[in-house]
This record gives sequence, C-alpha cells and structure tokens, in this order.
Amino acid sequence: MEKRTHTCGDLRISDEGRNVILSGWVNTARDHGGLIFVDLRDRYGITQLVFDPSVAPEAHAISERLRDEYVIQAKGKVRHRPSGLSNPKLQTGEIEVLCSDIELLSKSKNLPFPISENTDISTQLRLKYRYLDLRKPLMQKNLMVRHRVSQVVRQYLSSIGYLEIETPVLMKTTPEGARDYLVPSRLYKGSFYALPQSPQTMKQILMISGYDRYFQLSRCFRDEDLRADRQPEFTQIDIENSFTPVNVLFSELEGMMALIWKEILGVELKTPFPVLTYDEVMEKYGSDKPDLRFDLFLTTITSVFKGTSFRIFREELDKGGIVKALNVKGGADISRKIIDDLVDVVKPFGFAGVAWAKIQADGSWQGGVAKAISDDEKKQTVSVTGAEAGDLLLMLAGEPVNVNSGLSELRLHMAGVMNLIDKDEYNFSWIVDFPLFEYSRQDNRFYAKHHPFTIPDEEGVEVLLKGDRSKFEGIKAKAYDLVCNGMELGGGSQRIYREDVQKAMFKALSMSEEEALNKFGFFLEALNYGTPPHGGLALGLDRLIMILTGAASIRDVIAFPKTNKAVDLMMDSPSPASKEQLDELGIIIPKIEKNT
Ligand code: AMO
Repeated sequence: MEKRTHTCGDLRISDEGRNVILSGWVNTARDHGGLIFVDLRDRYGITQLVFDPSVAPEAHAISERLRDEYVIQAKGKVRHRPSGLSNPKLQTGEIEVLCSDIELLSKSKNLPFPISENTDISTQLRLKYRYLDLRKPLMQKNLMVRHRVSQVVRQYLSSIGYLEIETPVLMKTTPEGARDYLVPSRLYKGSFYALPQSPQTMKQILMISGYDRYFQLSRCFRDEDLRADRQPEFTQIDIENSFTPVNVLFSELEGMMALIWKEILGVELKTPFPVLTYDEVMEKYGSDKPDLRFDLFLTTITSVFKGTSFRIFREELDKGGIVKALNVKGGADISRKIIDDLVDVVKPFGFAGVAWAKIQADGSWQGGVAKAISDDEKKQTVSVTGAEAGDLLLMLAGEPVNVNSGLSELRLHMAGVMNLIDKDEYNFSWIVDFPLFEYSRQDNRFYAKHHPFTIPDEEGVEVLLKGDRSKFEGIKAKAYDLVCNGMELGGGSQRIYREDVQKAMFKALSMSEEEALNKFGFFLEALNYGTPPHGGLALGLDRLIMILTGAASIRDVIAFPKTNKAVDLMMDSPSPASKEQLDELGIIIPKIEKNT
C-alpha cells in the first residue's frame, strides 16, 4: 500500500490527466458489460473508478471480485466523464479515474444494513454495528461539525482569556438532580468514587484558587431517565468566572454562539438575545424552555371561572387548581378528528380531555364546552385571552404544573399541525429569575431548582439565613438558562460564596449537618479562604450539535451513544464483572433476577 495522493472528495475537472492514488471503501460496484464502475468512498466524498479490460486486464479481473465495503487502493489517471454522464450530486461528479492498478486491502462480510442514506434501520441494529453506522455520510458530517464546534469554542474562549483546565472523572458527588454513577475503590473497600454529574464543585474551587476564567469540554455522567436529548454520559462546554457581572457573561456567550453559527452555518445571529423572566415564560408558554418561533400564547383564566358551575373546572378549582387557556390563533378550521386526538397529548399529564371551543364570526362559541360555559364566562375569557373570530381555545384545569405542561405540549403540537415553525430559524433567549427551590409535596421537602450552589437574590439570602421555610417558595435565584428553539441548551447561575449561606442552603434542602460535611466538607472549608464572587454556566455540547445539524436524536451526534435503557449494544455494556474483580473490590452480589 502506498500513501494516497488524494481523498475521494478532492478531484475536480482541473485535475484531468493527473496520475492519482485513492484509498477507501467500495460504496457500489457495477458491471456495465465489460467496464466495471466502482464508487469509492471515504469520509471526504465519493469518486468514480473505471476498470477497463482493454486498458488494464489484471486490475479489471480483481475489480470483478469487489463487493460492498471492501477496502481497496486504486491507481489511475483522472479523466473527464463522457458528456452527459457527469453526476451533479457529487463534488467529484465531473471526473472519473481510469484505473491501471488495484490492491484489495480488506474484505467485508455481507452487511447487516446498507451504508446508504435514507434507509429505515432499527436503532438497535445501528448501535450494535455502530462502526458501520458511523460510515454513513450523515453521521460523518455530524461528527465533523462536532469537531469544528469544539475547535471554535476552544479558540474563542482562549482568545478572551479563559483557561482550559481538566477536572477529575473519579470524584465525589456533584448534585445536579440525577443519581450518581459510582465506581468502587479496590484500595478502600466499601468506598466509592462518584463520576461527576458536572464539574460544578471543582470549577468553583478553581475560582477560589484564582483561575478566574475557566472552561472545559467536560464529560458528565448522570443516571437519569433518558430522552431524545439526554444521554447518561454527555459533554458540556463548562464555564466559570470571577468578578464578572452576569450581563458580561451573557454577551461573551452570545459572541461565542454568533461565531459558531457563522463558522458552521454561515448564519448571522442577532445579538443580544432577549432576556425573559421565568414567571413571564411560565405564564405565556407554560414552559421554562419555550419555543419562541411561533406566536401562540397561554393565559391564566382562573379568576374568570371562580364562580363557575362547569363541573370539570369547578372540581379542580375547589381543589386549589388553576384554569389556563391556549389561544390557537386561526385554529377554528381544525378538524374534529385532530381536536379529539388532543387528549393523547395531555394524557401523560393526568388529563382525561381538553376543554375546547371555536370562536365563530359573530363571536359565539361553537363545539366542545360551548354549552357548558356561561355567556359571562365566555365574554371574560375572550377579553382576557384576546381571542377573536376564527380562533380555537384549548383549556385545561388542574394543578399548575400539570396545566402548564399539558398546555405547553398542546402549543407545540398545534404549531406542528398548523405548520407554524420555520425550520431555518434559530431563536435564542435567556430565561432568568428562576425560583431557588421546588417543593415536593410527595417528599415534603424542598429541592434545588438548579443546584445547591446557586445564590438567591439579596432578599432570598436573608430568608435562607433565617431558615424561614414559609417564604422559601418565593425566593428567586440568580440562575439563568439559554434556550434555543424550545431546547434548553445551557444553564448556570451566580454562586453562593459564603460558608454560612451555603450551610443554610444545605439545611434548607433537608441535608443534616453531618451529611453536608460528609459530602461537601472540603467545599465548605474552602469557602472560608477568600472566595471571590463568581458564577458561570454549562452548555450541552451534544444538544448544540443537534441544533446545528438538525439531528432529531442526541445519538446522532455522539460517536458511541447508549440506548435509552443506558446500554452500549456494541460492547454489550454494562456487563457482569468476574468473580476475581468482585473479590478484589470486596463486593458480594446477591443473586438477582436477570434484568429485563
Ligand atoms: P445543567 O444540569 O443545567 O447545569 O446542565 C447544563 C446543560 O447540560 C446539558 N445536559 C445534558 N445533555 C445531554 N444529556 C444529559 N443527560 C444532560 N443533562 C444536562 C443541557 C443542560 O442545559 N453545573 C451546572 C452548570 C452551572 O451551573 O454552571 C449544570 O450542569 O444542555
């Protein structure tokens, strides 16, 4: 084998007459009555090779044996394709290589699926044979975009003074709301490292150490329920800085996003991004990651129905629930079938149906709940929601979290039905002023909405220090998310930098003093040695690549992802450990029923 002179994506008409050496995979081989045409593929493109028995009989004889995905090296001369036979879909489509020589480097078994695009192959099969799946041009394009984005990020952040510093993977717990992946220690039997859910505590320690501008493309590990945009291990563009007001951090990040969009897509992003409060977006969109590419809005209409005799609303209001409406502008033409099917959209949030009505040209209500609602309630609803003739109102009553989730899902669903989303638009926003806590009625305790290191506003600090639980729910955090097209791309906050406040926070989260010291003693101690005010955020690199490539699944932007059951099908991992390994670690596994 010799060094190739070109890749399969290089050659153009200007190379005519050149002697070249190409290496790659046989994409297709076709016998055209004597002449054999081979499409040779590598990650740069496809080049057509021609084997002519009258020019090179030996090479032709070998080419007769070629099958899909054989690996070959071919030598030959570049020539113009005969007129009418050029292929405008290929960058090399105007030329072909008339081969004088071929070396068969490696054979391939029959493939479990073709490498060509647009074939509907099961995820299971794709992941089992990931090395074949990764040969697909689309996957190769996604991974190349990923590489380029990492380069842009590194260069941009370095150019404005950030240092890339690696933090450990064998760590201690870093709470981000998921379960930890634990690694047993051999030397200290019964003790475990935790893989980082994020480098949160370490990057804060780096601030205390004076590395005032830090970043890292860091691997994070979270044992949580998986979805189309979640993997158990993923990568963050993790950032932290000291002495920097939030608006400066935002504009640095906007500069980075603008550069990425320009370099990768050639698109100019409009900056600064709009800043919206959590309360505002929850009211208008029912979600803290609203898709702002289309104008369908929610309105709370609880007060309209406070004296209602409409049974379904009445029952929910009596239980302390709320009523909200989604005004589907111009939706009155939507078919009854589509409306009836909306129940499937809201079922996961505990609703047995959607209250709906169409607004007629004369202002009257038609269909659904029109008969069950009084004229006065209709009038007030129209006035608060701004509904007009031709609109469709969708209403839900219940607990605020369910009502918001249900209507937010309906909003996205209706945008799809009515084709309201411009797929070429990139709509960014910052969401700010999140609540510090979330209360769980089930567990009768507060959870951190972001994580336990987020600082509340000044008033909130006082409430926290007093430990006044009755006011916890109203505390606002200095936390923010970056949202694009309805996806949470990143999140961050300004941090607590006083030990007493941090201790009060742990206490508010029902952590005993002992537990706090056990898990975070090192951190509490470090806070006492001159801690600068600091904050930061982390962007999900995988999600960023999803948006840039239009990938529907996070698996399509990660070389070796796991299934949504957290399994690596190619390596068959996780898998049992040997008895020797377990003995060394001091682990005894009780007999367990095989996982299904
Ligand atoms: P957070 O938990 O919000 O914040 O995570 C930041 C971003 O990481 C991405 N992300 C994920 N991507 C893929 N799979 C997952 N399982 C997953 N979980 C999170 C999202 C998310 O917005 N330490 C804080 C940041 C900070 O405060 O500075 C943190 O990790 O895009």
